[in-house]
Amino acid sequence: MEPPVTETQVAIIGAGPAGLMLSHLLQREGIASVILESRSRAYVQQRVRAGVLEQGTVDLLDELGLSERLHREGLVHHGLLLTLDERRYRIALTELTGGRALTIYGQQEVVKDLIAARLAGGGEIQFEVEDVQLEALETEHPRVRYRQQGTARELRCAFIAGCDGFHGVSRPAIPPGVLTTYERHYPFAWLGILAAVAPSTEELIYARHARGFALHSLRSPEISRLYIQVDRTEELGDWSDDRIWNELRLRLAADGFTLRDGPVLEKSIALHHSFVVEPMQHGRLFLAGDAAHIVPPTGAKGLNLAVADVRVLARAIERWYRAGHTEDLERYSERCLGRVWRVQEFSASMSALLHRLPGTDPFEDRVARARLEWICRSQAEARSLAENYVGLPWD
Ligand code: FAD
Ligand code: DHB
Repeated sequence: MEPPVTETQVAIIGAGPAGLMLSHLLQREGIASVILESRSRAYVQQRVRAGVLEQGTVDLLDELGLSERLHREGLVHHGLLLTLDERRYRIALTELTGGRALTIYGQQEVVKDLIAARLAGGGEIQFEVEDVQLEALETEHPRVRYRQQGTARELRCAFIAGCDGFHGVSRPAIPPGVLTTYERHYPFAWLGILAAVAPSTEELIYARHARGFALHSLRSPEISRLYIQVDRTEELGDWSDDRIWNELRLRLAADGFTLRDGPVLEKSIALHHSFVVEPMQHGRLFLAGDAAHIVPPTGAKGLNLAVADVRVLARAIERWYRAGHTEDLERYSERCLGRVWRVQEFSASMSALLHRLPGTDPFEDRVARARLEWICRSQAEARSLAENYVGLPWD
């Protein structure tokens, strides 16, 4: 028996930041979409991940009328602190970038806001779907087959947006030989915690330390987010809360600084990985966000890059529907990849600057330290870091 068929204009695979933003951007242009998500709504709303939003990401949420809670609860930052040998240097982000700033607001809060607004506006998000399979990508009528609560279903559309993250099914649906993969694995990971304690700093602290990298970020006046570099083979079970706080205390140490600790609400380990596929499209399938590229988190760029992709994609689809233009669709990959590679370079160089590996060649160590010191002393270097960190202008 043939499965029940639904029709839409754009089938979006994945309800992460990329898929959700895309559905809002399309809705603004009067283009229908359906989002298929393999996890439950509760799961995607509590998945703790990134937290730094570039100015451009916030501006886009403003434009879409999706930023009311973000402006109420988000923390606007005008600078960040770099630490070398227990000395802190401030990079005056806003001053160095002609007034741009960043906002700290947890990724899962963005996801909650986007889901609530999409459903309230009559949008369709199907959670807990299984066995998603993309078909007929090289035709004008691609299809998505999947199961929902055991029932086979089919979604027919004009375009498929693969927004299903690094482990999704969209990228593997592209035939072998089409994509070229560029990647690098790093020998370290970040162990991240969310803690119920007031942040011990008003601005983010990135620390290069002989024991390894540490980062103090924030979520709210009551919640702190912190990370330490660990070996990629480390197991979470070997890291008691006390051990984590001790390590953070050592690595974040500086004159006059005291680290407050508190109950750990969540902890996880994320491996560092750089990854890009070219092109980011095949036939009527367009990849966006982590489905097409991954950056190590040191530059705080993953979420922002996902948003930048779907902004380009929504415009290309809109121009196709409005005026039959195919050029923007054809140039989707090229338009995204310029920014993707800029961000790859920035993220990789921030990682190299701030992490120290056991057994590092002492010459390399000295060179990295000299570079960090130079960034802290030279306004031209600091401006370059600031420009990249707050986010490049669109296009
Ligand atoms: P995702 O957020 O991964 O969304 C993809 C969605 O697709 C998910 O909801 C997933 O459940 C769904 N999905 C997957 N497979 C299927 C399928 N077959 N069918 C249907 N749905 C599917 N970035 C930073 O800048 N700083 C950080 O500290 C940071 N920490 C991170 C920690 C972790 C553990 C991870 C995994 C990522 C982290 N990132 C961080 C990266 C950042 O969170 C991502 O770049 C961002 O989530 C990308 O958004 P996305 O929408 O492309 O993908
Ligand atoms: C956060 C994450 C990052 O990857 C980063 O570079 C800075 C802050 C955060 O989760 O707050």
